[in-house]
This record gives sequence, C-alpha cells and structure tokens, in this order.
Amino acid sequence: MPRKILVTSALPYANAPLHLGYILEATLTDVWVRFQKMRGNDCLYVCADDAHGTPVMISAQREGITPEQLVARSAAEHRRDLEGFLIGLDQFHSTHSSENRRLTEQLYLAERDRGYITRRSVRQAYDAQAGLFLPDRYVRGVCPRCQSPDQYGDSCEVCGSTYTPADLLEPRSVLTGSTPEWRDSEHLFFRLSAFDAMLRAYVASSSLQPAVRAKLDEWFAVGLSDWDISRDAPYFGIEIPDAPGKYFYVWFDAPIGYIASFEAWRNSHAAARSDDVSFDDYWRSDQRTELYHFIGKDISYFHTLFWPAVLHGAGLRRPTAVWAHGFLTIEGQKMSKSRGTFITARRYLDQLPPEPLRYYFAAKLGGGVEDIDFSLDDFLARTNSDLVGKLVNIASRCASFIERSGGRLSAALPEPALYEQFARQADAIAALYESREYAAAMRAIMELADEANRYIDRHKPWALAKDPAHAEQARAIATQGINFFRILMSYLAPVLPQMAQTAGGFLGVSFEDWSAVARPLLATQISPYRALARRLDPAAVAALIELPAPAPATAAATAGTLAAAKATPAVATGTSSAATGISTATTGTPAAATGTATGGTGGASAGATQPINIDEFARVDLRVARVERAELVEGSQKLLRLTVDLGSEQRTVFAGIRGAYQPEQLVGRLVVVVANLAPRKMRFGVSEGMVLAASDPRDERVLLLSADSGALPGMRVR
Ligand code: 2FM
Ligand code: ZN
Repeated sequence: MPRKILVTSALPYANAPLHLGYILEATLTDVWVRFQKMRGNDCLYVCADDAHGTPVMISAQREGITPEQLVARSAAEHRRDLEGFLIGLDQFHSTHSSENRRLTEQLYLAERDRGYITRRSVRQAYDAQAGLFLPDRYVRGVCPRCQSPDQYGDSCEVCGSTYTPADLLEPRSVLTGSTPEWRDSEHLFFRLSAFDAMLRAYVASSSLQPAVRAKLDEWFAVGLSDWDISRDAPYFGIEIPDAPGKYFYVWFDAPIGYIASFEAWRNSHAAARSDDVSFDDYWRSDQRTELYHFIGKDISYFHTLFWPAVLHGAGLRRPTAVWAHGFLTIEGQKMSKSRGTFITARRYLDQLPPEPLRYYFAAKLGGGVEDIDFSLDDFLARTNSDLVGKLVNIASRCASFIERSGGRLSAALPEPALYEQFARQADAIAALYESREYAAAMRAIMELADEANRYIDRHKPWALAKDPAHAEQARAIATQGINFFRILMSYLAPVLPQMAQTAGGFLGVSFEDWSAVARPLLATQISPYRALARRLDPAAVAALIELPAPAPATAAATAGTLAAAKATPAVATGTSSAATGISTATTGTPAAATGTATGGTGGASAGATQPINIDEFARVDLRVARVERAELVEGSQKLLRLTVDLGSEQRTVFAGIRGAYQPEQLVGRLVVVVANLAPRKMRFGVSEGMVLAASDPRDERVLLLSADSGALPGMRVR
C-alpha cells in the first residue's frame, strides 16, 4: 500500500527575497518528497508565503504600495526562485488567502468554544507618532543588564539576557526614533499551559531529533506560558471574529497556512484524482496519512509546542514528526549583508545552474540540526569532481562505443554479478534518504561511481575498439558502464531531477520508479550523448559574494589610514579593504602594510604617512594566526592560498608571497593577520583577511611578520 504523506517547508516571509538558507530547507524537503514519489508513495508537498505581520505592513508603507501589492510581487518572485531551484511543490499558496482566513477563524472559534482562549490586559509600547503598537523588535534601547546601547526590546545581543521592552533603558521606536508611550490594551491568549500533559505525551511518542528533544525538556522544565495571539490595529492580518479592531498575531495564522495551502491544492487538483482526498483524512485523523513539517531549528518552539497544541485544541491531528535543520553559514560565518555573504536565490541563479547547489547541500545534510557550511572553494571542487569528474564521466566515456555500434546496447552484460552488486545498494540508499541522511547517501553513491570508473579503466574499451575484432567486446564493456550510470542516476534523481530528465532522454528510460534498476537495460536503442553537466566556472562561483558598494571615505580616521596605505601601495595579501582602498598583491607591487599602521618601517614612504591616534590604530584587529595549509593558486604567479587558524575559526587568505616562499615552508608558522578586514572576492576565491609582511619598493622580496614563540593563534596584537 502506498503511504499517503503530506510534507511542508516553513513558510517564507513575504517581505524579503529568498536566500540560500531557505533554499537549503527547500532542497532538504524537495529531495525527500521526490524520493517518496519515486518509491511509489502518494506524497504531497505544499508551502505558502507568510504574508501577514507588522514588517510586511511597514515595508509596503515605505515603498508607497499596499501590503497586498507587496505580497503579490513577493509571491511571484518566490515562485520563480523556487522553480529555479527545481523545488517540486504541488502547491505554493499564501496566508493572505480566503482559505487561510476561513480556517484561521474556524480554528480560533473551536479553541474559544473549548475554553482555550482567555483575555487580559497587556501594557505595550506605543509609537504615538506612527500611530501603532510596537512589536518588541521595533523598540531599541540600553540593555538593563549590561548597559550596552542600541539593543532590541526582547534580548541583548551583547550579554544574551532576555527581557521585555519595558525593561529597556532609554527606549525608542525604531520607526520614528520617538520615545514610546506605554498603553494598556486587551489581548487574547491561547492557553498553552492547558496542553502540558498532552504535549509531554505527544513529544514522548514522537520520533524527535535528540537536539530538539533536549530543547523541549528545557522548555517543559521552565513551564509553558500562555501565548499572546492578538495584535491591535493597524495590523496587516486576519481580524479576530469576536474582537473587532484586533488581529491574529502572524504566528497564529502562519502554520494554519499549511492547511490552507493543502485546501487550495485540494480545490484545484483533487477532482482530477480517482481516489478520494478528504480534509479529514489529512487533518482530522492521523490513521491514514502522515504529516511532516521541515523547519529551521530556530522555529522549533512554534512547531513542536504551539502548533500541535493549536491543532489538538481545535480537534485536529498533530504532525507525525517535525524535522529541524541547522543554519546555513557562508565560509564558516553567519550570512551577512555587510560581508556580501547574504546570497539571495536570485543572485545564485543569475550566475549558476541549480543542481550543483542541490547536490552540494545534499552532500552536507544529515538528519540532525548541525549548521551547514557553504564554502565556495569546497563547492566548486566537490561539484566539479563528483558530478562531472565521476558521475557524468561514466556516461560520456561509454557513449561513443555504443554510438559506433548503431546506438544499441549489447544484449548481455559482461559482469552481471557486478551489476547486481550496484543494484543491491538500492535498499540501503533508500533507508538513508528516508532518514534524511543525505550526506551518507551521496558518499555511498560516489563510492559506486568510483567503482564504475575503475571498471572502465580496467577494461579499456577505447583500446579494444581500435581492433574491429574486439568492437563487440568494447560495446559490451560500454553497456556495462552505461548500466552503472543508469543505476547511479536513479539513486541521484531526487537530488538531480533535471539531469535525470536529460539522462532519461539519452537512455530512453524514466527515473520515476526507484525499483526500475533491479533489471539491467539491454539490447535497447539509446540516443546520441549530449553533455549532462559542465564544470562550474570559478569566476561565477566567486561572484556569488558581492560586497556592498564602498562607503565614501570621509571620516578623518579612515582618511589617515587611507593616505598611509596609498603611499605604500599594496600589501602581502590578495585582499584589499574596500573601505581603505589598499591595493592588492594581484595588481600592485608587493610592499609593506605594516608601516602604514605602525607609523613606519623605515621604508621609502614612511615619511609620507599622516599621524593617527591610538583609537584609530585600535580599529585594526590584528591577530596571531597559525598557517594550517599553504597552496599554490592555479593561474596566479604571485598568490598563495593560506588557510590560517585564528584560534576560534579558520580563514582563507590569499597572500602575494609566492615569489618569496614555497608553500611547504609556511605550514605551522605563526603570522599576523588583519582579522577585521572586509572579505574580498577575488578571481580565485574569497580572501578573508590579510597577512602582514614587510617589504621595500626597491626590493622584490616580501617578508612575513611572525610572532615570538609562546604566542597562540587568536592572540590580539597591539
Ligand atoms: O520564521 C519564518 O520565516 C516564518 N515565516 C516561518 C513560518 S512557518 C509556519 F509556521 F508558518
Ligand atoms: Zn546586555
């Protein structure tokens, strides 16, 4: 019996473009759904835009459009991006829809009638100038605990303490800068505390990830508080039926959007299906269907506590499981606009095809909540080597021997047992997909790809084909190779649907059925081979990181360093700070950067520098670092690629010191790094800092600065 499964990804907010973090989640979900479909299960995948809330309202106001216009534009962009990444949604809907309004009202009334809604007065920050109540994050001020300025109204980024906006010192509205007033207003609460026992039992019986379970234990220990689900007008959302002028808090109607999207799908598709797709089968009972939510770990509370409680309170089923994933970091760090690493889906798609990224994500995703790092170099190397060098290579090396024989595969395999061995992996790989252990699945598949390539290397069809007497043998070897390729493509089809489609055309097969590879493809006609994937262009990969336009250097502090740096052009790195305009080793003459900061090395230009004060110097974050790896950079005569350990993190730095050092001389050495230099995108990758070196314009040599023994990576240099 095929399983009936409903799957969702978290609903992206309508006021922002999709970024690669969301694409990670969508890929994680999509691969699972495509896998289920290949297994013959009846799997539906729905999602929607999360359209409501103050940020959407404010964004629209700022643009001078209505929230509805903003939501419509965003939906079109999100749809286009999701399609671009081959996310095979059955329905992408919106929480700003008639289905969601109806369902939200229904669920709320059901909760109310069962006594799960209470009302009480809440004191809240009110911006009289803007005429609205301020969400916690719209109030900033001085942290009451550590006195750090400019902290959010709900938590301090410096000391980590949490509080309410009323606790902030010197609070002000981020909308108008005015001091908020404190006004009382009646709010509606969902009585989460009434579900404590139910939730404990539900959590105990669900197959949760260990990290999520640990979090839940903490939350239960602290105790469940009732949840404020109302907001006062003006608010872009769904008005509460028995509380005019009050709206549902966006987080109340957002998950109901999962149901709304399912309903929208049912309204437009269910009629076309022979079987009965009923609301009750999916949402009232959990007997016949499975329900899975894929989410980021930061929204676990909403999905493992609020959402099951809201569903249960309204007499609906609870999720079979909630699967959380970690955050996406770029080059080991949180995505950041100022570092140019906030990569939107659109920016990626403008440069590169979707499948290498889908494969890269799959190759890194496990079933846990660990963060996933996107390293540009690793991405380039891994996808070129695995997809082109290993996978596609099998098909391209074998195709010509079949073409020469009229495009027909041999009638028998030379090594049927080896084929069996590949095909027998289907169950183990399926189990890995099922448990979302994609990285392990990709490793197993690539090991098979290596084995297939070794088979071809061993039998050398190209040598056999030279002798017409052995042409038939060459065709048989190639037939075996093509069959290996077909098995691998089938295992990879959930990750690489487009390539599977093209490969299907080439082989005259489809990759819709997981078990189809149990039998080999023999004595059938195949089409002429066309490239299935190309190597990625390093320049296009490097271009993913886009630094914001440099700010005009007006401040005296910057000007001081700037003048000095310009007087001694170039540093011992391939990097340059956009803010200072220091030129790079790739373009400039290698020279000392140290003199610019310290006031003179005795180099020719030292006298030209302007004095700076100690505060200006202190802005340069100099750190001791250990060189972990040093490599030549293909295509560059000047650069070495260094991997340096800064104590708390590793960074890649390009240094223009190839003329003076062999890579192996550098490994293990202590150097001094400018740690707060904005990363710089170069032709060969991103440089995340600068290594200090001394030189003189009259001399070609560039000499690295080092720290005395006893210094440790990460130590500050002052
Ligand atoms: O955190 C977010 O991006 C929310 N828009 C996710 C909502 S998921 C669901 F609950 F609607
Ligand atoms: Zn603080």
